[in-house]
Amino acid sequence: MVRPEAFVDDAVAEIRDEIGDANAVIALSGGVDSSVAAALAYEAVGDQLTPVYVDTGLMRKGETEQVSETFSYMESLRVVDAEERFLDLLSGVTDPEAKREVIGEGFIREFEREAKEADADYLVQGTIYPDRIESEGGIKSHHNVGGLPDVIDFEGIVEPVRDLYKDEVREVARELGLEELVAERMPFPGPGLAVRVIGEVTEEKLSVAREACHVVEDELEEYEPWQALAAVIGKATGVKGDNRVHGWVVSVRSVESRDGMTARAQEIDWETLQRIQSRITGKNENVARVVYDVTHKPPATIEYE
Ligand code: XMP
Repeated sequence: MVRPEAFVDDAVAEIRDEIGDANAVIALSGGVDSSVAAALAYEAVGDQLTPVYVDTGLMRKGETEQVSETFSYMESLRVVDAEERFLDLLSGVTDPEAKREVIGEGFIREFEREAKEADADYLVQGTIYPDRIESEGGIKSHHNVGGLPDVIDFEGIVEPVRDLYKDEVREVARELGLEELVAERMPFPGPGLAVRVIGEVTEEKLSVAREACHVVEDELEEYEPWQALAAVIGKATGVKGDNRVHGWVVSVRSVESRDGMTARAQEIDWETLQRIQSRITGKNENVARVVYDVTHKPPATIEYE
């Protein structure tokens, strides 16, 4: 890549050229690629761009707040609180692939409405070079925000970081003053916490999974896992005071991996595991027990659904 400074100048000029006086939208996920694409496009066309962040209610703790704060300088930013709508859509859905489908369709519906409201002709996307190669080769089966251009009829698609590799996107992020996004973050699945609760997605399970994931990410940072997570996997008996209660079982998982295709469960010391257990059960009295998952991938997957 040329110097990040020159890249930003060229990209901004090119976007301005492509979009002209029209309006554009971008789906912000909070990840570095869509964030950089949004920042470049906003610099190019200002409030003609509507960045849309959909809070599905399936996000990690603090994620929506972080995105809102990072992009608060964009007056046209739309943070859509869609939690209740997603919970309604997911009500009664228990099959993992059906959940993914419902979430994907729900997302498109939210985005479509926002794009119409913004009267947008252009779609800006944070597609990077490896994404293009993978989708051309048909390798990638998990898409965070798949299908938008197919469903909504845009006049043009603008992909300002399409020729960059991840480390180059990070350099550009630094250049744009988006330092907080540059740190290597753990991959987080598109369907979010919905694949970290087994069976039907409910507000209560989500809240347990969200707090537990937060504890696990915090406690296991020093192990530098590829991914560390917690999932609500069922119910079991526990004791609270003098009573037997039927509470949630939370499974903690921490894996090393190069690309997510295979993974090794990490060996975690007993004291850390006990601290995790005590923080999770302390935060939520409906959690009856915490277990640690020692299964590699294969035979298990990284997520629980
Ligand atoms: P599994 O659970 O299949 O996960 O071993 C491998 C990697 O992919 C992520 N993952 C997803 N990412 N949409 C995504 O964007 C999905 O539906 C999805 N399912 C799993 C998972 O977090 C891990 O990094």
